[in-house]
Amino acid sequence: MARILITSAIPYINGIKHLGNLVGSQLPADLFARYHRARGDEVMFLCATDEHGTPAELAATKAGQPVAEYCAEMWEVQDKLGKGFGLSFDHFGRSSSDQNHKLTQYFAGKLADAGLIREVDDQQMYSNTDGRFLPDRYVEGTCPNCGFEDARGDQCDNCTKQLDPVDLINPRSTISGSTDLEMRPTKHLFLGQSTMKDQLEAWIDSKNDWPILTTSIAKKWLNDGDGLQDRGITRDLDWGIPVKRGDQDWPGMEGKVFYVWFDAPIEYIACAGEWAEANGKAEADWQRWWRTDKGADDVRYVQFMGKDNVPFHTLSFPATILGSGEPWKLVDYIKSFNYLNYDGGQFSTSRGRGIFMDQALEILPSDYWRWWLLSHAPESSDSEFTWENFQQSVNKDLADVLGNFVSRVTKFCRSKFGETVPTGGSYSEQEEALIKELQEKLQFYQAHMEAIEIRKSASYLRAIWVAGNEYLQSAAPWAVYKEDPERAAAIVRFSLNLIRLYAVLSAPFIPDASKSMLTAMNADGAEWPDTIEEALGALEAGQEFTVPENLFRKITDDEREEWQEKFAGTRD
Ligand code: 2FM
Ligand code: ZN
Repeated sequence: MARILITSAIPYINGIKHLGNLVGSQLPADLFARYHRARGDEVMFLCATDEHGTPAELAATKAGQPVAEYCAEMWEVQDKLGKGFGLSFDHFGRSSSDQNHKLTQYFAGKLADAGLIREVDDQQMYSNTDGRFLPDRYVEGTCPNCGFEDARGDQCDNCTKQLDPVDLINPRSTISGSTDLEMRPTKHLFLGQSTMKDQLEAWIDSKNDWPILTTSIAKKWLNDGDGLQDRGITRDLDWGIPVKRGDQDWPGMEGKVFYVWFDAPIEYIACAGEWAEANGKAEADWQRWWRTDKGADDVRYVQFMGKDNVPFHTLSFPATILGSGEPWKLVDYIKSFNYLNYDGGQFSTSRGRGIFMDQALEILPSDYWRWWLLSHAPESSDSEFTWENFQQSVNKDLADVLGNFVSRVTKFCRSKFGETVPTGGSYSEQEEALIKELQEKLQFYQAHMEAIEIRKSASYLRAIWVAGNEYLQSAAPWAVYKEDPERAAAIVRFSLNLIRLYAVLSAPFIPDASKSMLTAMNADGAEWPDTIEEALGALEAGQEFTVPENLFRKITDDEREEWQEKFAGTRD
């Protein structure tokens, strides 16, 4: 049994996430976690809300709420929506937790002890109109790298370049829009990650199995020297983790907080501490996932994230871990994603463009979305959500192929043999051929799931469903029944077993439908098959079953048009 630690990039607290965010980290991470649990591995799947920094402050101001209150409320909302989408986190934490406060201050102390933190008399952008410093997202302007006009002070969304507010051309305050900005002196802590370039490069070079998207972004920032400039890890803000050196005050740093991108990845670790506290576990129970001196040396750690997050996970966070000089677990594999676009443009949180998690669940159950999003995951390039494509994929894959198979088999059985797995008849070369075909497809499905090739996994799962449909079509028990009811019974028995098998294999993608299928087959708790042959003998003659509710309904053209129109603008 392998031990797999999985983290999804922690979503900013500033509002409900859109489907592009979901497919860029949480959803594929959930697929992987569910798959490994199903294979009998020990999994720790962690995520949290990213609550500090300017995104949280700006959103709270807009909502007219104190930031702590805003974060607490939005955590509830995100937690509920995550559950609505079946995200099976072992813990959904908060980067504002006590555990993260302590651990972030602890890491800062260790990095300072290692001589990797220096105090810098710095200049920061100050807004005369707003009467305050404007770190990170408090400033927007034109990206010096690609010319994108709405680049934020911390990073350009268009080209992923990490920025400093002073880099922006024509900077403006995002609070007031004012351009009356000036540089004022302030003091900050800088992490000396540039001195760790060789160590980080050797580590990244040793990861020759990483996806090209991940390594190409990592290498780009490494070789530009860009991602490895020493970076300020503190900010002049009120909301955040107060700057301390371990549990000691840091003279000269009073009133400042750590930069959100310093504390956010540390929350991956702190979240395991939150999990332990929430579940009455001991410190050793979470440390065995995170400390290589306490049992984590045999853990495989996999991270999921959108491409804009890659520099922080390949350079900045590893610099924190390595620089601490302590045996914390480093990531083994980083699965990164391109962007999902929406109907001819970008999904956008700030402009409210696209479909958001709450809206999606209001119109259709989560499995419909999970299937489409995962089977169209933006792995090798950006991909696009269109309503036509969504309708087609749901109607074809889920309703016509899988749903229809389940419905035909169970209803035919009920009408001819009752709600009991029929007895009698024997299997022929038709069943033998299908077993062979499915066994082959299963190997590919598993191999792609192990390799986290999500679209390929989805296409093998679809092929497994299609093979069953084709079998049913050619075995045609409804025709055979007239001449040879015994043989028809065997076909139906085999097909009911296929439903059970499909439920097990499909569970990582469509957990709710899978559960309905298993319950209908009286097979809750069915395990991942060792061999197809064995799995297809699991339901024995005489066992009772029920005809499930229609698993998936079709999306009509009217609905498609209605939704297309409804989601064409921006949400309030
Ligand atoms: O891009 C984002 O949504 C960030 N909140 C991701 C943070 S991931 C991490 F490092 F914690
Ligand atoms: Zn840019």
